[in-house]
Amino acid sequence: MEISPESRSSQDIYKILIGTVLPRPIAWVSTVDLSGNLNLAPFSFFTVASVNPPILCFSPLLKENSIEKDTLANINQTGEFVVNIVSYGLAQAMNRTSGPYPSKVNEFDVAGVTPRQSAFVKPPCVADSLVNFECKLQQIIPLGSEPMAGNLILGKVCNIHLHPDIVRNGEVESESLDAIGRLGGNMYSTIRDCFEMERPAI
Ligand SMILES: Cc1cc2nc3c(=O)[nH]c(=O)nc-3n(C[C@H](O)[C@H](O)[C@H](O)COP(=O)(O)O)c2cc1C
Repeated sequence: MEISPESRSSQDIYKILIGTVLPRPIAWVSTVDLSGNLNLAPFSFFTVASVNPPILCFSPLLKENSIEKDTLANINQTGEFVVNIVSYGLAQAMNRTSGPYPSKVNEFDVAGVTPRQSAFVKPPCVADSLVNFECKLQQIIPLGSEPMAGNLILGKVCNIHLHPDIVRNGEVESESLDAIGRLGGNMYSTIRDCFEMERPAI
């Protein structure tokens, strides 16, 4: 079966993309607006873009009316955000923050999670997350102006918080982080069924 994206609706293409590009890690992104209102929302179009310098990227899509989501609007205004990692135990709380709440609504309260002051940026960390990346905006690349167009946000990591529970002998222990991933539809995965493979030594 071959599919020309132009022949299908954005909704169809969305379903194909999220059902095949998986599992996707989840950036649980905290931001503030210029008045200091807190915002928290999950984004699975998320990955590492660079190590030196350390850059994370994620992509909020435009809404049905082509309007920016609060996270994008806030980062446009302030140039700062925190990426919090979602462990299995935080799945329900994370999901609650994905509703289309008005911009003044504080999703920390909606989710019942605790904000903790960041060291270098205004948006707070999610204290309940075992990993927090404080980021300063590097660049936003708008990828279109129609509904569901992505906006690739690149942020330079300026501070990393690792909870002692996930560090053993100075190394991060991924199993203890127990991060979840997003699949197609409303499905999620864990990292509890892993396998190891050595890379070729040439
Ligand atoms: C696990 C998960 C991953 C999501 N990933 C994305 C994403 O990558 N891009 C996006 O635009 N929306 C994504 N969403 C939807 C947003 O979280 C949702 O639109 C949210 O209301 C945006 O909040 P904001 O307006 O406060 O920024 C995701 C939702 C969930 C539950």
